[in-house]
Amino acid sequence: MTGAEEAYDRNSQSFLLSRDKSSIGSSIVEQWSMQLPKGAAGVELGCGGGYPVSRILDNAGFRLWAVDGSPRLVSSFQSRFPHIPVQCARVQDWDFFNRQYDFAIAIGLLFMLNESDQASLVMSIANVLAPGGHCLLTAPIESGRWQDLITGHECISLGLYRYQAIFDAAGFRMKTTLLDSGGNNYYQLQLVS
Ligand SMILES: C[S@@+](CC[C@H](N)C(=O)[O-])C[C@H]1O[C@@H](n2cnc3c(N)ncnc32)[C@H](O)[C@@H]1O
Repeated sequence: MTGAEEAYDRNSQSFLLSRDKSSIGSSIVEQWSMQLPKGAAGVELGCGGGYPVSRILDNAGFRLWAVDGSPRLVSSFQSRFPHIPVQCARVQDWDFFNRQYDFAIAIGLLFMLNESDQASLVMSIANVLAPGGHCLLTAPIESGRWQDLITGHECISLGLYRYQAIFDAAGFRMKTTLLDSGGNNYYQLQLVS
């Protein structure tokens, strides 16, 4: 089985065509980012082409570092945000630029991974956040499997109960869950200091 990043790379044009003009999730990201310290440093996992999420954070004055596993999407991202460091890598094998962050954000990524990789990624994110660091992740409340509309990749939601256990084990407190206009669920987390 190939990874979702390869599937996104093959379908990068159709993904960008729809995502670039979509504002789904924008208001949640904007509101969530208001609690972050001015000029905070953050890492974005599965950044895609950067519209609309990275653009919102960049325009708000946050310092961003980013990663995505699709070479074509990373190339689009680089041309749009030449000042933001971005690497093309699988998040499972990534070194997070070997630095610490005030926040992390991963929209549309977690459920693309298998169950053990999802748990490991949450732990890796916790390990690169400063005490009290913030994290915003999307994944459904319900558990289940479905095929990603753009790529056909099989997605896996572990569901609220299992996600809660994974977040607890990584040292996160779940502050709230929020639904966007497209029906996507956001887990708003904060590392217990
Ligand atoms: C649904 S898209 C979301 C992109 C972006 N966050 C957004 O909101 O538009 C998922 C992204 O995750 C990337 N991706 C999927 N699996 C990945 C992995 N294992 N490592 C790195 N990137 C991955 C894909 O290449 C794609 O850009």
